[in-house]
Amino acid sequence: MPRHRSFLPHAVVAIAALLALHPLATEAQKPAPTPLFFGTSWYPEQWPASRWDTDLQLMQDAHMNVIRVGEFAWSTMEPAEGRFDFTWLDRAIALAAKHHIAVVLGTPTAAPPAWLTSKYPDTLRVDEDGRYAEHGNRQHFSFASPRYRIFAHRIALRMAQHYGHNPNVIGWQIDNELAAPSFDASAKQQFHAWLHHKYGTIAELNRRWATAYWSQTYDTFAEIPVHAKGENPALLLDWKRFVTDTWVSYLQNQIDAIRPNAAAHQFITTNSMHWFNGYDHYIVHKNLDIAAWDDYVPDGHLDPDLNAAQHDLVRGYKQKNFWLMETQPGFVNWGPINATLPPGVTREMAWQAIAHGADAVLYWQWRSSLNGQEQYHGSILGADGTPLPIYAEIQQIGADFERTAAALAGTTIKAPVAILQSYDSHWAIDFQKHSQKFDYVASILDLYRALHPIAQSIDILSPDAPLDPYKVVFAPALNVLPRPTADHLLDYVRNGGNLVLGPRSGMKDADNALQPNRQPGPLASALGGYVEQFYALDKPVPLTGNWGTGTAALWAEQLAATSPQTKVLMTYGKSNGWIDNQPAAITHAYGKGSITYIGATLDPKLMQSMAASLLAEHGIAPAIPGLPEGVEASTRASAETHRAVVILLNHTASSQHIELPRSFENILATHILSASTIDLPPHGVAVLMEPHAQ
Ligand code: GAL
Repeated sequence: MPRHRSFLPHAVVAIAALLALHPLATEAQKPAPTPLFFGTSWYPEQWPASRWDTDLQLMQDAHMNVIRVGEFAWSTMEPAEGRFDFTWLDRAIALAAKHHIAVVLGTPTAAPPAWLTSKYPDTLRVDEDGRYAEHGNRQHFSFASPRYRIFAHRIALRMAQHYGHNPNVIGWQIDNELAAPSFDASAKQQFHAWLHHKYGTIAELNRRWATAYWSQTYDTFAEIPVHAKGENPALLLDWKRFVTDTWVSYLQNQIDAIRPNAAAHQFITTNSMHWFNGYDHYIVHKNLDIAAWDDYVPDGHLDPDLNAAQHDLVRGYKQKNFWLMETQPGFVNWGPINATLPPGVTREMAWQAIAHGADAVLYWQWRSSLNGQEQYHGSILGADGTPLPIYAEIQQIGADFERTAAALAGTTIKAPVAILQSYDSHWAIDFQKHSQKFDYVASILDLYRALHPIAQSIDILSPDAPLDPYKVVFAPALNVLPRPTADHLLDYVRNGGNLVLGPRSGMKDADNALQPNRQPGPLASALGGYVEQFYALDKPVPLTGNWGTGTAALWAEQLAATSPQTKVLMTYGKSNGWIDNQPAAITHAYGKGSITYIGATLDPKLMQSMAASLLAEHGIAPAIPGLPEGVEASTRASAETHRAVVILLNHTASSQHIELPRSFENILATHILSASTIDLPPHGVAVLMEPHAQ
């Protein structure tokens, strides 16, 4: 879920190959190349240059090898219109190189300077109620403003011309946590043009949006209102898609400035916010080299499955390893109660990121600015410039990464199952929840919690991603199901895949219109069944069948079989009268595979037995079986060398004794011994390899 704050929301690549080109790797006194990046956000523009060396030395002492700089420093880089000053940044980057610390450069476009927004107010963001953003915060620009694009392109171009071949700059972060769209005149005009381009004629739009309803019929595109709520569901979905496309072109404007001027080893990314659904992340990441995200636990209580799922979600944007561009050293400043992570959990989280495919972990932030909106945020150094208590834990993580980097080089996650996540479906359900309690993200997480202990690795993907590698694919609440996606899923099943659909699936077409046949629409005939009717529940209904006995609390669909081969897996008990004794889950063979439809929101116990039953049926078993509750295992493997590294994480506050299926060596330990049992301290971590594999 997007985070809410009291002020404006902020909101490897083949790393081995990258490092081969990395200039630091050629320096004589440098430690062995590392595929793991470890570092922090650093804001040299906020401090006297005489202090920088001390900062960088303290970073080096914490085994840091990367910093992200510049992402809010526009007023320092371009203090007056057209007057650029990179001398301070040149010095900071050169000094970082002396400390063997590489640099990711942020373009500063999330924080345009006051000279810009006051001289050109048309660059300011306008909210849905027509209010202009003012200076003094960030993200106060309009993502659609043509004039803003000119300034953004120019600063990115100047930076790229200056640093595109700087050997110590390894990558670019464009902007920072893209978030708020604008409803200014230019954005509205562009939305109308976008609709015109999409539909061709207003008659076609009227037909597909069914505008005869409530006299919505339009004569021209310019008549169409621009709103993000309370509108025709087709309009609302198209607005989200327009916002997505506008962010794509917003990023492209800066990619076009950077790419031609950047050396091949420099990647381009942006940092995103897990479930934030302001735009479609699959589309927005297409032209970026890697995905990166910012992981925060505002209440200080890590929910390991939730956090694991978020990493898997981000890994799915590009289906490869990603960067954790920001995470908290202890606590944040924007939650209702900003409690801190207990000792050891910052390290546990860093390792959980690596366990799920991160190749970099960076803390936000190094030292808080003496003034500004984030004075209370956790940092690594205090205002006095000396290490805070968390520094020792950060230092330990840095040492861990250094020790294990070579083993983890070139490894990634290979999951046996996938969960499909669709922005269209998320949006469509949010527009018309039907039950306030129905939460699209929760429908993914409830399933994830049940699958995770068995599958141990899970991919979370767009419904249009290649699915052949997976024995089972789950699609909870795949509400919007365009024909091409349905065909893609049918191909998967025909070739032997097993598709499990959850409640509310296959209800809408690409225009967010109701499908002309019952759910799951284009998949109904392959399913050998359909949804007779859906019901929002105000009290739990009993369920019984192959997966045991339990309840559905939120949603119940009455299913019907149309083929004698369709098997009923679960049945409702006595409930609202309509669904009593009716099928709640059915399955049907299709091609070489199968389709299963679960029409009820299963309680956690039923969800677990469903997961256990379906995964066992398709031969999916945990790589490290028999783990105590609260202990997570994740395997990173190299497709080339077949080297596998198992990361064990104790998410509990007590010690855990673990019996391993065979002998492993814990390469994090100072004395490496081969053993088939291991004791993990509270929040402890082990990085295991089979003895012969090193
Ligand atoms: C992020 C943002 C950072 C910082 C951080 C604090 O969302 O990108 O600049 O504000 O939150 O938690």
